Amino acid sequence: MSSISFEQSLEIQRPLSFVYAYLSDFSNTASWDPSVLQAQKTTPGPLQVGTHFDIQVKFAWTQISLNYHITDMQKDRYLELKGMADTYSLVDRIRFEGDETRCTVHYQVDVYYQEPMARLAPIFAPLVKANAEQALRTLKRTLEGESTDWQPTAWTKLSDRLVLPGLLKFTRRGFMASKSRWTGIVTDLSRKNILITGATSGIGAAAARSLGRLGANLIVVARNEKKAQHFSELLVSEGCQPPRIEIADLSLMQDVQNLIKRLLEREEPIHVLINNAGALFNQRVVTAEGIEQSFATLLLSPYLLTEGLKPLLEKAGGARVINVTSGGMYTQPIVLQDLESEQEDYNGTKAYARAKRGLVDLTEIWAREWKDAGIIVHSMHPGWADTPAVSHSLPKFYEKTRAWLRTPEQGADTIVWLAATPEAAETTGLFWLDRTPHSTAIFPGTKSSPETQAALRSKLNEYVQRFRETPRGNQRA
Ligand SMILES: NC(=O)c1ccc[n+]([C@@H]2O[C@H](COP(=O)([O-])OP(=O)(O)OC[C@H]3O[C@@H](n4cnc5c(N)ncnc54)[C@H](OP(=O)(O)O)[C@@H]3O)[C@@H](O)[C@H]2O)c1
Repeated sequence: MSSISFEQSLEIQRPLSFVYAYLSDFSNTASWDPSVLQAQKTTPGPLQVGTHFDIQVKFAWTQISLNYHITDMQKDRYLELKGMADTYSLVDRIRFEGDETRCTVHYQVDVYYQEPMARLAPIFAPLVKANAEQALRTLKRTLEGESTDWQPTAWTKLSDRLVLPGLLKFTRRGFMASKSRWTGIVTDLSRKNILITGATSGIGAAAARSLGRLGANLIVVARNEKKAQHFSELLVSEGCQPPRIEIADLSLMQDVQNLIKRLLEREEPIHVLINNAGALFNQRVVTAEGIEQSFATLLLSPYLLTEGLKPLLEKAGGARVINVTSGGMYTQPIVLQDLESEQEDYNGTKAYARAKRGLVDLTEIWAREWKDAGIIVHSMHPGWADTPAVSHSLPKFYEKTRAWLRTPEQGADTIVWLAATPEAAETTGLFWLDRTPHSTAIFPGTKSSPETQAALRSKLNEYVQRFRETPRGNQRA
């Protein structure tokens, strides 16, 4: 057995109770420790001695799974956690001193290596210490609310144009490279109403869990009541407020219209609207309302919902709309005369990409038009994340790229950042990946002109007019 010890004190200009609460939830390590790929609290209920966390870390070229648990917890004074991996174990001992304005954190980590790793400990020591120092620097910056510098670098712009380096950014490696520049998100969202669609799975679930942990009042729109209830229970087990559940099948405009009506009747402001629900449909299917499913779900539905909720967004003052699109939209222009993919052999990937392109166009339209109403509109894409959408709809792609795919949490990070941070309110109408705006077009002929965008809007208006005017049950095309 051989060990490495690391010790450092941090002066943090934030209240002791806030710092203690943040550090005691070790699932936050994914935000402040650049070597952590993923961190999940695996014991339901409040944080206490015995609470477990599953933490995936990258070390040099390997990925290591650590089973952490709290071994001692004295509120606002002391925390101790033990972590176990196959070949080593760790003890984190954290002492706190301070008051309502400041806090000193004394952080000590001891790493114990078993044979044969123990022999390599002297070689690892400098790397372990460098990682720990970087993590604690990021922790301090996070807790003191330092903002992320989101301006795209010259390399970001160039790599988008060169396509391949841009594509590598979609992967887990791309995320980890970007993450090394960031801080965690600690905004208090406790008075914010955040409506998110598609939170019963994948990226939406990951985003909603993070936003819930920041205190948001979540309104979860789902089509499956059982899944929504299960998700609600999960949130509560993680210490979040139960979300309000609104049931709607977002491929059906009458359902969207009814949802809008219910929300308008409540008259509650919506501070953040996240249009996330989506899927890639490999077969051309027409909904019961007579509209092609990709177009209905991915473009018409967020259009109707966002336009319909504008009064509640305005009421919030400084509201944000976040449209979850896809890097796939780079490959396609919007095709106004064939929004429902009728004129050529149906290709699900194409239909998906065109609808997502349309959502990027809508983002730009709304950003221009709603600036004076104080509504900020962002589009983003999550990169390639390991979710049911990818494994079900693109099984071959999934098999080949699985090791490169992001976790849902990594895919969701930019949604949370755009929803929560003050710096994300500095701009509107941009297209984001990993907290950085990117170009919306790479290939010739794919970018929509302002005239095309205006024509798209008119076409969508014609569609939704039908549902605004037609009573339920009589809305087929
Ligand atoms: N994963 C990626 O690599 C990737 C890449 C680019 C873009 N995206 C986008 O990210 C978003 C989330 O996708 P994901 O990968 O997290 O997929 P996912 O795990 O399959 O989640 C999709 C969510 O959307 C909901 N949904 C789908 N159709 C709906 C409908 N008609 N009405 C109501 N809810 C509906 C699903 O509900 P159920 O649980 O009931 O199915 C689920 O909650 C999508 O907009 C997707 O296009 C994902």
